[in-house]
Amino acid sequence: MPPVALVESTNASYHPTYTPVAIFIGATSGVGQAMAEALARQTNGRAHIIIVGRSASAALKILAGFPKPPDEDGNWKHEFIPCDATSMRNVRAVCDALTSRLTRLNYLVMTAGSPESNSFTRAGETEEGVNYHLSMRYFMRYLFTQDLLPLLIAAKEQDQQAHVMCVQGAGFGLRIRTDDIGLHDTVRRSWKCLNGNMMPTVAAFKGIITGVTYNDGLVAYFATKYPTIAFTHISPGQVLTKGGTYIDLGWLFAPLAWIIKYVRMTFAFEQDERAKYMLFGLLDHANDRGGIFIRGDRGDIVSAHVFDSDFKSPFDNVETATLSSKYGVLQGIPMKGYGGSDASVAGLIRYTKEVLSGILG
Ligand SMILES: NC(=O)c1ccc[n+]([C@@H]2O[C@H](COP(=O)([O-])OP(=O)(O)OC[C@H]3O[C@@H](n4cnc5c(N)ncnc54)[C@H](OP(=O)(O)O)[C@@H]3O)[C@@H](O)[C@H]2O)c1
Repeated sequence: MPPVALVESTNASYHPTYTPVAIFIGATSGVGQAMAEALARQTNGRAHIIIVGRSASAALKILAGFPKPPDEDGNWKHEFIPCDATSMRNVRAVCDALTSRLTRLNYLVMTAGSPESNSFTRAGETEEGVNYHLSMRYFMRYLFTQDLLPLLIAAKEQDQQAHVMCVQGAGFGLRIRTDDIGLHDTVRRSWKCLNGNMMPTVAAFKGIITGVTYNDGLVAYFATKYPTIAFTHISPGQVLTKGGTYIDLGWLFAPLAWIIKYVRMTFAFEQDERAKYMLFGLLDHANDRGGIFIRGDRGDIVSAHVFDSDFKSPFDNVETATLSSKYGVLQGIPMKGYGGSDASVAGLIRYTKEVLSGILG
């Protein structure tokens, strides 16, 4: 675990020679907000920071609080892009707009959650037929990553940092599913016996956990495919955010939810405190050569691997049976806290491509 002095000095020493371009998906509150604010403070506002979410009023208030350098200080910009990211069509539209006007991207940070994706009781599907939990916890993150990669590659080609960070629940090594990957059967079965908002459902619980594990698959896939770019799955730990303090156990267990919430408040962290560690994970020079990083809530590296720049990703268009089904191992490299096997990652990626092409054509 990096000492706090190292975390603070690494963040404080961040003075890039270029104007960094950073997109925070889900920065109108919570960890994303605190990270965007920390980057704005560290750069004295000399950064192109884009925050994405639904609430324009919250976004404009946050942007107004960023330090503003004198105009002649370069091409800094602070902006908000509205997007309901439960819809893959919306995500695609935002990415198309961004790739048409940006020339590079240094940091793509994805923190967005939502009441639906954090709910222990409700489990259903979006209008596009995607499991609610998975839409926010995984699919929109995959699509933002895939569509914005040309901009990250452009940053890397200019010898700049290029990093995709998924803030979710890294380091537990929970296994990526190989059956019912979209959780449709799980939801169908669960609805039959437990209908409504009364109590936690198996489907909702599985949605939460499964979404976490798929972030391991996301970083494994993209890190093998684009070896010079850094892909991180990091855990923020327990943080006192709007989403983090919302515990939905249904009306039957509402008193228990209330007790958990207040017990949690005794050991959870403020978002600004936690953002310090997340920013360290984002800016750390260990990321400079690219690779996969599983990081804990202090920004500590639980496991990591840098692939050779000519490495050929094994995950596209392969029979899963030809790949190893050993969990916690990526291409023969044991990875602590990683929940994938090569076969399960290939299965997840194949399924993801099918779902997205079904929606987006
Ligand atoms: N807080 C914790 O204790 C904790 C613990 C473990 C893991 N995590 C994970 O860490 C990440 C960050 O946590 P957090 O507590 O800061 O996040 P959060 O409160 O769950 O998410 C808040 C952000 O998500 C955005 N959001 C919600 N629905 C959206 C939608 N449909 N489309 C686009 N944006 C949407 C919100 O903006 P708008 O409302 O403006 O849309 C807001 O900016 C999440 O992935 C969470 O699951 C958090």
